[in-house]
Amino acid sequence: MSEDGVSNGRRWFLIGTTAAFGGVVGAGVAIPFAASWTPSAKARAAGAPVEVSLKKLEPGQLIRVKWRGQPVWILYRTDSALSTLDQVTDELRDPLSEKNQQPDYCRNEARALKDKYLVVLGKCTHLGCSPTYRPDAGAADLGADWLGGFYCPCHGSKFDLAGRVYKGVPAPTNLPIPPHKYLDDETLLIGVDTEAA
Ligand code: FES
Repeated sequence: MSEDGVSNGRRWFLIGTTAAFGGVVGAGVAIPFAASWTPSAKARAAGAPVEVSLKKLEPGQLIRVKWRGQPVWILYRTDSALSTLDQVTDELRDPLSEKNQQPDYCRNEARALKDKYLVVLGKCTHLGCSPTYRPDAGAADLGADWLGGFYCPCHGSKFDLAGRVYKGVPAPTNLPIPPHKYLDDETLLIGVDTEAA
């Protein structure tokens, strides 16, 4: 198991899932593949939406996928994790997500379409390091009042379990949330906005 609780086997499963999705896209153009694989086709593939099955995601687990070359994290938040969100608001810089770091449909306390799933870019808004997932409330190195979240060891920025940045750290804004939608209860599509109701 890695420090973020995702086994290597699990991570490779996800990479495989993404690759398989790309494979489906490529299958239809197998014959003219060499000719059609132009830079513009590559660019389209690099920006293509990424479909992720959440069927095997377990409560408390965080998985990572790549979209447009960037790390996207999907965290299954338990009721207990969700209950921490309104306990930390006084300590946050932008608790209501007023800055433009998420689509409008995620401008809520959980910063999510479905409360239990956080979908967020895993890049610190200070200088772009990758924060670590730290669900361990009261961790010795983060303080007795730590309720779980993300910690960037580069310069000490902290984010809660909705990716909202704490006051007094170098990161200026909440972690960004990419456009996404659900194709069904357990299938997520990253890179395409949810249509307005
Ligand atoms: S890059 Fe995260 S705190 Fe500096």
